[in-house]
Amino acid sequence: MTGRNLAVLALGAVALATGAWLSPAPQAPAITVYKSPTCGCCAKWVDHLRAAGFKVVVHDTDDLAAVKASVGVPTGLASCHTALVGSYLVEGHVPADLIRRLLRERPAAAGLAVPGMPGASPGMDVPRAGSYDVLVFDKQGKTRIYATR
Ligand code: CU
Ligand code: CU
Repeated sequence: MTGRNLAVLALGAVALATGAWLSPAPQAPAITVYKSPTCGCCAKWVDHLRAAGFKVVVHDTDDLAAVKASVGVPTGLASCHTALVGSYLVEGHVPADLIRRLLRERPAAAGLAVPGMPGASPGMDVPRAGSYDVLVFDKQGKTRIYATR
């Protein structure tokens, strides 16, 4: 066996041992967030996304209502910020792992929403605030529970 072959074998062993061979590093999903420039909990949710490996583009706007109307956030599901990821809408303090699940499962839906601003959601982070539902919704605003946290 040549030295070169040995080196290739050694590299292969390292790749297998670290799992790099089987699961390539997951690429950072890109998400665009529309929020008010003065919203503290929105900024914290952006931090939550970045900590979870998302590539976040932030647009500050004083007319979020216009953004929500133009992208089609159903009335009744509104929260403090609106985001776009792939072909989906993400409304409110949706946990990053559920956005990844959405992108993995690709359901026939318009997006995910956490209406209002439940205290226990990421970016709100109120201790002992109780549970909340993350909803998946379609273009007509029909919802079902995607997860309860
Ligand atoms: Cu908020
Ligand atoms: Cu917000």
